[in-house]
Amino acid sequence: MAGMSCILEKLVVTGVRSKPFSSSFVRAYYVEHPHRIECTVVENERGQIIGFQSLKRAIQDNPYDIPPGWGVIGTHVGPEVTRRGLGRRLFSVSFGVAKKENISKICAFFGTENSGALAYYEAMGFEACKSTKNWVQMCFEVI
Ligand SMILES: CC(C)(COP(=O)(O)OP(=O)(O)OC[C@H]1O[C@@H](n2cnc3c(N)ncnc32)[C@H](O)[C@@H]1OP(=O)(O)O)[C@@H](O)C(=O)NCCC(=O)NCCS
Repeated sequence: MAGMSCILEKLVVTGVRSKPFSSSFVRAYYVEHPHRIECTVVENERGQIIGFQSLKRAIQDNPYDIPPGWGVIGTHVGPEVTRRGLGRRLFSVSFGVAKKENISKICAFFGTENSGALAYYEAMGFEACKSTKNWVQMCFEVI
């Protein structure tokens, strides 16, 4: 939990993230979330977590207003190790899990200012499907 929390804290410090980052938040929101399908981590050679990707299943009346059963993805890579293919590695795992779990679509949600997220999800094959003043939603067809 501490390694994931540390990544989120760095993202808050660099201004990419404004949400909580404590270990208890990481536990509740990612690791032990009731709708978690998978939470994949990537470690460095010293066994420290340097990136993670969460894949959850949307339930009825979810806050994202997407059909129940679709996947919701979130990706966090330490700012000191971006553009080294970690996000790509994480998505190849989540994609395989989504296929196995018969998830038809995966959605990503992020702030409109987050050009890195937009470029990353585009590179993973996601397409923009909705946006508001503050948020962009991108979707990926799994099946
Ligand atoms: C967005 C993020 C997950 C990308 O992770 P990453 O490990 O750097 O991604 P990769 O190195 O695997 O990049 C894969 C491809 O995505 C694209 N890409 C990723 N980050 C990019 C950026 N900042 N600018 C332009 N293209 C980018 C590139 O096409 C890249 O391939 P290339 O490096 O061969 O050109 C990472 O920067 C991050 O954690 N950002 C902060 C949190 C966040 O915004 N998460 C997404 C919303 S949940």
